[in-house]
Amino acid sequence: MKSIILVGYMGSGKTTVGKQLAQALGRTFYDLDWYIETRYHRTVAQIFAERGEDGFRQMEAAMLREVAEFEDIVLSCGGGTPCFFDNMDYIRSVGESVYLKATPEVLAQHLKMRKVERPLLKGKSEEELLDYIRTSLEQREPFYLKAQHIIDVTLLDNYDKLQTSVRLIREKLGL
Ligand code: S3P
Repeated sequence: MKSIILVGYMGSGKTTVGKQLAQALGRTFYDLDWYIETRYHRTVAQIFAERGEDGFRQMEAAMLREVAEFEDIVLSCGGGTPCFFDNMDYIRSVGESVYLKATPEVLAQHLKMRKVERPLLKGKSEEELLDYIRTSLEQREPFYLKAQHIIDVTLLDNYDKLQTSVRLIREKLGL
């Protein structure tokens, strides 16, 4: 079975939806950021601080190629993963890729609900956050849109909505 690889902007629900999807399909779930942190014994924030974004992107590309080789998995990528090197072409070649598409407003809401520190968003006010999301989503979306499947994600603020996203993905993949 090909891997299912979830892509999309920070806060699109890749990890939350990915975990539920893996559970529903009886697959193992991997989160690329978690995998990087575990392999390097460093948090993503520490890697950004110590090696800069360029250093992080090198490690991310290498770890993507390592984890995507595992069989029968659901993998959620980082928001930037598809947008560097030839990562998106690689993702398409090894898995069934799904873009979790959400509006800047929904992304901002999700990012406010989840307090995990993201180096690229650190210190931004609500207004700055929305501006940043709008601008960078526009730059990134061409990469995300290369995914073989696209689902629209609305505000995931309860279990039923989460399950709806899981169901949409399963329908798209015929699983
Ligand atoms: C990033 C997204 C993060 C993480 C890093 C950079 C990005 O992952 O990889 O902070 O460039 O969008 P999530 O999308 O899981 O937050």
